[in-house]
Amino acid sequence: MLRGRFSRPLDRAALALSESTAEDRRLIRADLWGSRAHARMLGEVGLLPVPSARRLDRGLAALERAVAAGRFRLDPRLEDVHLNVESELTRRLGEDGERLHTGRSRNDQVATDLLVYLREALLDLEERLGGLVGALLAASTGPAGRASVVGWTHLQPAQRVYVGQILGTHALRFLRDAERLRSIRERLTDCPLGSGALAGSSLPLDRARTAQLLGFARPSPSSLDAVSDRDASVEALAALALFSVHASGLAEELVLGAMPEVGRVRLADPFVTTSSLMPHKRNPDLAELIRAEAAPALGRLTAHLAMLKGLPLAYNRDLQVGKPLLFEGVARAQLVLDVLTPMIATATFLPGRPAAPRPDAETSSVELVDRLVARGVPFRAAHGRVAKFLAGPSVAGRALRALPRDLLSGAFPELGPEELAFPPEEEEAELRTTPGGSSRRAVERLVAEIRRRRGASRRALFAERRRLARWRRALDRPFPPVRRYRSQAHK
Ligand code: ARG
Repeated sequence: MLRGRFSRPLDRAALALSESTAEDRRLIRADLWGSRAHARMLGEVGLLPVPSARRLDRGLAALERAVAAGRFRLDPRLEDVHLNVESELTRRLGEDGERLHTGRSRNDQVATDLLVYLREALLDLEERLGGLVGALLAASTGPAGRASVVGWTHLQPAQRVYVGQILGTHALRFLRDAERLRSIRERLTDCPLGSGALAGSSLPLDRARTAQLLGFARPSPSSLDAVSDRDASVEALAALALFSVHASGLAEELVLGAMPEVGRVRLADPFVTTSSLMPHKRNPDLAELIRAEAAPALGRLTAHLAMLKGLPLAYNRDLQVGKPLLFEGVARAQLVLDVLTPMIATATFLPGRPAAPRPDAETSSVELVDRLVARGVPFRAAHGRVAKFLAGPSVAGRALRALPRDLLSGAFPELGPEELAFPPEEEEAELRTTPGGSSRRAVERLVAEIRRRRGASRRALFAERRRLARWRRALDRPFPPVRRYRSQAHK
């Protein structure tokens, strides 16, 4: 705890309210990376004697190993990750440790840590989303995907579609989520480090160098902005809120589809529960929990925005409250993905129960209307005639395809025998050949597009991981390194 000129320690409850060590464990790796970049730069520009900088670098590398081995615990009395690292380093190195904070503030440190953390978190989520998209694609292109079921609007029977289109459509939503996360990540280019508390520094810091060593493109252009900007956290929480809405929509369809009355999906044993009272039960609890996760995900976004609202420029301690919202948002999304992906991969998709042939379940009605329209009947008139006909006594609840031909031709004399023949139920989806429609060809195009975009996403994420690993390894090169470097180099 920093007490400086104060004579008394921070009040106990005040410390409890202000310390952030529990959540800060997610920032340790980022914090150590940032400190190694900073120490190296201090040595390179001559703000630290090279032997000091070298000892600091070794000390920080040793701390990285301690973290990896689970041997470094954050002490709540030291308030946050930054003071814990500095104090442990000073305990190990003495005076050199006290030199690390030269030209730096916890304000630019935490802003930098958050971006370094978020970059990794987004890559991880992009990869997990790719896994879910892959599982949905596999199910949509398998034999079950070729079955046709009644598609719903308002949860009422509408028109028949292939299961492959339904699953492919969920895949498309999650693919967009992954692309959204990637675009957020690709805009994490400006490094806050070197912005100090709010106004930069009078010391000759080389901000371009620390930006480079941390894998950023450039130093941030305003110190006032750099210490207060949490846009990336908000964007990530917004993208995760939307992802969780997509996940809850799929989860709801799994819950409905698993109802025996609907019979469209059977979830595998590891993803269902039973009842403590009713032995026959097979409950989709996990799908329900995923459906519910969207609620706190939306809450985290609004909580973070509300915390930021009205804050004056530069660092304010309120900002600390945003950290656990972000970390929890990431962790919950990871967990949802880790359940949803194998749940889809192990589910059995069934053809579903045939809809009872009732006028309100007659999915070929649109085709009949369209054929009248093709014969010149105005759409509204055609719609009205078909609706009346289906509800009339002569149909008596039978399906269009089961009606005697003369009954149909009596009601719709403008249609010839071919136009009054309806394909079997399973083939109805083939009739809608518009791009993006329900025909098999349109679904194949959908799947091909998802495959292509998913491939591009995966290549981008692995390329970024390799790039970051290169900069991370650059810190392990012999110290001091060459003095010259391309100061704006990013790639
Ligand atoms: N623990 C703080 C946070 O997470 C770090 C910055 C503290 N700065 C300060 N001036 N008290 O935001």
